[in-house]
Amino acid sequence: MRSLVVALAAALLAFGAACPPAAGPDAGPTLDAGPDAGPDAGVHEGPLVLVSPAEAVDLDPDPGVVRVQLRAHRRDQHVGGRVRAGYAYNSQSPGPTLRLSRGQRLIVELQNDLDDPTTLHWHGVAVPWAMDGALWQMAPVAPGESFTYDFVVEQAGTFWYHPHFDTAHQVDHGLYGALIVEDPTEPVADDELVVLFDDLGEELDDGGVRSHLAGRVAANGLVGAVYESPAPRRVRLRAVNVSNERYLALAWPGLRHIASDQGLLPVVQEPSSVLLGPGDRSEFELLVGPQAFDVTTLPWAPAGAGTGDAEPLFTVESGGGPAPAPIAWPTSDDEVSPTPGAIDVLYVLSGDPVTHRWLINGETWPDSTLQSVPLGEISYIAVRNVSPTEHPFHLHGHAFEVVTVDGVPPPYRTIEDTVNVPVQAEVVLRLLADNPGEWMAHCHILSHAEGGMMTVLRVVEPGEAE
Ligand code: C2O
Ligand code: CU
Ligand code: CU
Repeated sequence: MRSLVVALAAALLAFGAACPPAAGPDAGPTLDAGPDAGPDAGVHEGPLVLVSPAEAVDLDPDPGVVRVQLRAHRRDQHVGGRVRAGYAYNSQSPGPTLRLSRGQRLIVELQNDLDDPTTLHWHGVAVPWAMDGALWQMAPVAPGESFTYDFVVEQAGTFWYHPHFDTAHQVDHGLYGALIVEDPTEPVADDELVVLFDDLGEELDDGGVRSHLAGRVAANGLVGAVYESPAPRRVRLRAVNVSNERYLALAWPGLRHIASDQGLLPVVQEPSSVLLGPGDRSEFELLVGPQAFDVTTLPWAPAGAGTGDAEPLFTVESGGGPAPAPIAWPTSDDEVSPTPGAIDVLYVLSGDPVTHRWLINGETWPDSTLQSVPLGEISYIAVRNVSPTEHPFHLHGHAFEVVTVDGVPPPYRTIEDTVNVPVQAEVVLRLLADNPGEWMAHCHILSHAEGGMMTVLRVVEPGEAE
């Protein structure tokens, strides 16, 4: 197994020098570059065109309801000139983007045509517990079976869906898609680009991971693709990091950060880079003007900033004219909530990359002591990282506010469902526990979650919380 993967990686390195197969503007984003893909593919005629994943068709005429069908099935992936057995939804990886407006009801009919059980989890969406697709106390959807997910979405933002059964393996092999919830009061950009970034890793027998792309990151399945614009434009970029392991530190000239996990920021930010851990999302306004530029990821190591060159993720072509004025995004004067006097729940993250044992409060899932918070009340959760690597901490069924990082409030209010916990740092979260259930809380580096860094937070009637 190991030597096969090493051989694959070597082949990819070789392929990196060759030309990728051409794709026309209508080519859907997919890992499958078609029958011509491979080391013997013909002459490359131009850059790969980056487009958003095709969207799912709404089968319900009722304007209040979006009903879609997703079929999970095997599908070979042509990656870096090689074929590997992969998976897809409706023949796509990334799967179809699901788009709805806040307040609409989403019905997803999942057909499992895999050889293994699977589920759908709605990452970042406060769904009823029975719709969460997490395995905890719920049976997965068996091969050949189907299941209908049905819930109303009240939050606007960029979310994603993925299996929560054999998660590292199924996500790594292509099962993921974007879920976009629009707020009709927000300004409309000239174009929207949905990009799911994936490191296309593969688990090794020793629990480690080696990238299929020799360390490169695919954007909607493509490496080195170009976003083309016939004219200057303001583009709403919705970025999702679906990598099992890989952190992205997104950077480009004139970066405008407009939203994080749970929708628009109080005020547009213009930092030099934005960190996107596994599971994380962010939205940006790309101003397509006279200059082409690369959307890049800065070097990032498991313990923070790395060294080396920025890696281009995709190129934004020139719009052939002067840059347009940016959109006036709505602002809010919501402030960061006060620093709490006391903590209700403490999660201490420990472990190491040598043993691949990753722990919360000294325990590995499922041998975990479950903590509870009272339904309908505010609780404060401290997540303290005493391990040598960072962890993107994710809680199901809720959004939370980050109130301090190492005791310091963030510069502006951020509502998240996945938050990076730096090495030797403590992040304090403010949670309105308004969704009853027993919610998974885990590191979204999927090998860490499977190595034990997972627990359940019970949201229970006030009298039942300890
Ligand atoms: Cu992206 Cu437990 O989930
Ligand atoms: Cu989740
Ligand atoms: Cu982790």
